[in-house]
Amino acid sequence: MKYIVLFGPPGSGKGTQSENIIEKYGYGHISTGDVLRAEMQNNTELGKTAKDFIEKGQLVPDSLIIDMLAKTLDGFKTAKGIIFDGFPRTTAQAVALKEMLKARGGDVSVMINLIVSEKELVERLLNRGKTSGRSDDNLETIQKRIDTYNNQTAPVIDYYKGEGKLANIEGIGTIAAIFEKICEKIEAV
Ligand code: AP5
Ligand code: MG
Repeated sequence: MKYIVLFGPPGSGKGTQSENIIEKYGYGHISTGDVLRAEMQNNTELGKTAKDFIEKGQLVPDSLIIDMLAKTLDGFKTAKGIIFDGFPRTTAQAVALKEMLKARGGDVSVMINLIVSEKELVERLLNRGKTSGRSDDNLETIQKRIDTYNNQTAPVIDYYKGEGKLANIEGIGTIAAIFEKICEKIEAV
């Protein structure tokens, strides 16, 4: 089974490209952001806790995310591959993922890192905010999400570089052209 980490800052296209991967390869998809938003919608305890962090542009604590991921992963026993979208976001999460996959006899196949300039990220997210209904798609929170990414999430790139799994992709251009580059990386592993 291929385990693909689709990585990048807020607005880099992780969700957009995940949809393309699902359509072409039929892989399972785990977006921790989508799972948290569903928990918020259902007003669960996890959702209520997550809401405060998400609206401040901060990360939800590792322990909550790792528990949630383990439960979600159990639902994908027979998939041909799994895309992790928005996870791992800290080195602790990356280490926890390695342990979870090891227990299934696997490992991350490749970490695809979408590189997009900050200016483009802000433009995309402000634009999406007009219709997304996401409470974190406003200028103040977007800026905080980008800071959180730079301070806490970007170090995950070095973790996967050390594992020999890092594949950088320029994430600016047409969605189709970027998808083609992603497919090359997926098919190479
Ligand atoms: P999450 O839902 O993961 O949000 P994010 O990382 O901030 O990223 P986005 O979903 O906003 O962007 P994306 O990269 O998916 O881009 P998209 O394809 O939508 O997380 C939300 C929050 O939940 C976090 O802040 C945190 O609080 C919490 N959380 C989640 N996971 C966590 C974890 N593991 N640990 C702790 N906390 C966690 O594209 C963006 C826009 O650009 C769209 O409008 C799209 O149409 C457009 N677009 C895409 N590609 C292109 C292109 N090539 N050219 C032009 N426009 C494009
Ligand atoms: Mg997303």
